Amino acid sequence: MKLLLATQKPFSSAAVSRMKEIAKNEIELISLENYKNQSDLVEAVKTADALIVRSDKVTPEVIDAGVNLKIVVRAGAGYDNVDLEACSSKNIVVMNTPGQNSNAVAELTLGLIIYLSRNSFSPGTGNELKGKKLGIHAYGNVGKSVASLGKGFGMTVSAFDPFVDENILQQDGVQAVQSVEELYSLCDIISINIPAVAGTIKSINRNLLSLLKANAVLVNTARKEVINEDDLLSAMENSRIKYGTDVKPACHEKMLTFGSRYFATPNKIGAETDEANMNAAIAALNQIIDFFKTGNEKYRVNK
Ligand code: 3PG
Repeated sequence: MKLLLATQKPFSSAAVSRMKEIAKNEIELISLENYKNQSDLVEAVKTADALIVRSDKVTPEVIDAGVNLKIVVRAGAGYDNVDLEACSSKNIVVMNTPGQNSNAVAELTLGLIIYLSRNSFSPGTGNELKGKKLGIHAYGNVGKSVASLGKGFGMTVSAFDPFVDENILQQDGVQAVQSVEELYSLCDIISINIPAVAGTIKSINRNLLSLLKANAVLVNTARKEVINEDDLLSAMENSRIKYGTDVKPACHEKMLTFGSRYFATPNKIGAETDEANMNAAIAALNQIIDFFKTGNEKYRVNK
């Protein structure tokens, strides 16, 4: 079996070495790391039976070129970079590796919250997290980890997620709120953890942003597409809210005018830890091995 590991943003060398050890003689592991052009991926996928990617774009062109492909695994959580329809039309299974990098993303979220609460580490009086209300916008693996870390800082945690049973939130000591509007008006700090799907794109809009407390902290370690950037700019102009993000918005240059109230990481680094790289890479490989051996499709995300 030929497996292509295509990562424009490579995994750590330790993670790739471990993958090679596991693959040994059974799997021919070809790695295309740090590639510059989409055409490199289109060329490399031509002989692959399986493909592992991170945020790499798995477009219809890639799928058309991958005439032997049976499975694509997004080593990570969000799979908005994979054209599910194109894969399904060729009977290619698509999986993700949920939970494998969520602690890394959650820790970065708390880092961004502290950074903004302390005026981007510039002189002046900031705020502590203790006693603040933390709102989790979607209680998936990352949201759950952010909630747990937030409690460690002495925050009271609320969450809105229509897909999660209230009992689960209760067990975790998290207050369930009934609407996203309630979450945004109630909390001092909001962590955005929603995926970029049809119903969520630009869903954080004027309406929601206008509900935020005047100096609320909003942190986005999910996807830039979920926020309406024009509305974000107006909200930044009309109040004292702070915005921190691991996904640089298109309006980055304009956002810079808000000084210490805005911070964006230069590149997406949420999942960039040795631990998350190892977890996600090995999970992806094991899922592929299991799929070819037993047909296990547990983490399949397409129909
Ligand atoms: C994810 O969806 O898993 C995270 O956004 C991490 O993405 P990355 O693997 O491209 O860093």
